[in-house]
Amino acid sequence: MESPFKEDILKGKVALLTGGGSGIGFEISKQFGKHGASIAIMGRRNQVLDSSVSTLLSLSIPAVGFEGDVRKREDAKRVVESTVKHFGRLDILVNAAAGNFLASSEDLSPNGFRTVMDIDSVGTFTMCHEALEYLKEGGPGRCSSSGGTILNISATLHYTAAWYQIHVSAAKAAVDAITRNLALEWGTDYDIRVNGIAPGPIGDTAGMSKLAPEEINSKAKDYMPLYKLGEKWDIAMAALYLASDAGKYINGMTMAVDGGLWLSRPRH
Ligand code: HXC
Repeated sequence: MESPFKEDILKGKVALLTGGGSGIGFEISKQFGKHGASIAIMGRRNQVLDSSVSTLLSLSIPAVGFEGDVRKREDAKRVVESTVKHFGRLDILVNAAAGNFLASSEDLSPNGFRTVMDIDSVGTFTMCHEALEYLKEGGPGRCSSSGGTILNISATLHYTAAWYQIHVSAAKAAVDAITRNLALEWGTDYDIRVNGIAPGPIGDTAGMSKLAPEEINSKAKDYMPLYKLGEKWDIAMAALYLASDAGKYINGMTMAVDGGLWLSRPRH
């Protein structure tokens, strides 16, 4: 689908996306690039990085990939620094890296719980922490007088509860708290806006195929009247809105982009 936004809304901006080489993260990378941004992607898998960067380059989007794991502070620091070295500045950080699998609380080991917390929550904080210096108003290489912006990809499952996803629910609840607290502190001190997006079920993603196999998917439609799949495009458009000047007065919000699904109740 064509974008409803003008193609220069992110002109001159530099965006770093963790998990930006596949799924929802890659669609955001692509749409940010199509709207004028230069793109740095951080990921653990070199093959994924290489193929996503060549796709972006083939669309004439300035792009670079950096191998790294958000669980390692030294990787976070190196990738943020390499991004600024490569493109001269950093304006937008998108935390899209996430780990996930289904496991009942009874079967999930504490280390399994910790692994997802480490990737989603601690990883998000670590990236924000290492990027701060560059996102600050007047930070190195930044020519604008305003601060940069951060987008954290969350979920809606912790608004209520989710079967076999206690680790992810806890991790995403922490992500939302990080979003609000950084919005307060860094919005006040550095004019940095920090927001989140909570996607509903999005077609053609690792999350959907791992977490909602077809039988769950079709059953869901019976008891959740608002159940309908979204597209990666929907999330990317919300990201464009929040990261561009269109969202300049929005800070500390996590926007649910799920067609209202989390409100869904059976009709009676
Ligand atoms: C139970 C599991 C498990 C599983 C791992 N563990 N997979 N437990 N069921 N399927 C446990 C292990 O037993 C181990 O605990 C601990 O977790 C660490 O496992 P490792 O394999 O060493 O971890 P690692 O190699 O770092 O892999 C991380 C991962 C992996 C999260 C486990 O699946 C991953 O990174 N996946 C790719 C990312 C991904 O899936 N992205 C899609 C996100 S979609 P023990 O005790 O044995 O040592 C998304 C949507 C959210 O986030 C919202 C949905 C609505």
